[in-house]
Amino acid sequence: MVIAIDGPSGVGKGTVARAVAAALGYRHVDTGVMYRAVAWKAGREQVPLGDEAAIADVAERTDVEASGTALRVDGEDVSAAIRTPEIDRAAALVARLPRVRAVLVAKQRRLGSAGRVVMEGRDIGTVVFPDAAVKIYLDAAPEERARRRSLDPAHAGSHDLATVRTELDARDRSDRTRSVAPLAMAPDAHLIDTTGLTVVEVVDRVMAIVRGTL
Ligand code: DC
Repeated sequence: MVIAIDGPSGVGKGTVARAVAAALGYRHVDTGVMYRAVAWKAGREQVPLGDEAAIADVAERTDVEASGTALRVDGEDVSAAIRTPEIDRAAALVARLPRVRAVLVAKQRRLGSAGRVVMEGRDIGTVVFPDAAVKIYLDAAPEERARRRSLDPAHAGSHDLATVRTELDARDRSDRTRSVAPLAMAPDAHLIDTTGLTVVEVVDRVMAIVRGTL
C-alpha cells in the first residue's frame, strides 16, 4: 500500500506526509532529500552538475538514511547542510538529469515495494508509483508557499520574503518545465488547495481521503 503525496516547493508536503505516516503507522519517505543528497555529495566531490554520467554515478554511490527530519548521507549528518539556498538550486539542476532520476526512481521503488509507505515528492503519483492506492496533490498560492518556507527554521539562508519568493518561483519553473517527470498532478490524484488551511486541517482532509479509499 503506497500513499503518494506530490506538490510544489513550500506547500508543506513534509509536515503533512510525516503526520499521515504517523497516524497510519506507515513509513515516511521524503524523495526530495535524495535529490538534495546527490547535489550535496556532488559538491563535496567537485563533480560538475552538468556531467550527467558522473552525477548518475554519484547517485548510485550515495547512501541516504532518514529518520524524522534528520538525514545522514554515507553516515554523515547533513540535516542542515542539505537545506540551504545553494543546495535548493543544485538539487533542482540534478533533478533535471534523466539518468539521475532513473537511479533514484529505482531506489524509491525498492523503498516502497514492501508497502505501508507514505512517499512524498514531485512525481510519485505520476512516475514512481502510478498505481499508488491513494494519490494526493497538495497545492497553495505561491505567496503562501513563500511565506511558509520563509518561516521554516529547518531552511537556512535568507528568510526575507521577497528573496524566498524569487528563488521559489525559479525552482517552480525548473520543476514544472523539465523534460523528464515534470511536476504535474496525476489525473487520478485528489487535489487539496492548502491556501488558508492549517496543518491539522490538511492532515484531516488527507486522512478522510485515505479512510474513504483503503
Ligand atoms: O522537495 P524538495 O524541495 O526537498 O526537493 C528538492 C528538489 O528535488 C526540487 O528541485 C524538486 C526535486 N524533486 C524531484 O524532482 N522529484 C522528486 N520526487 C522529489 C524532489
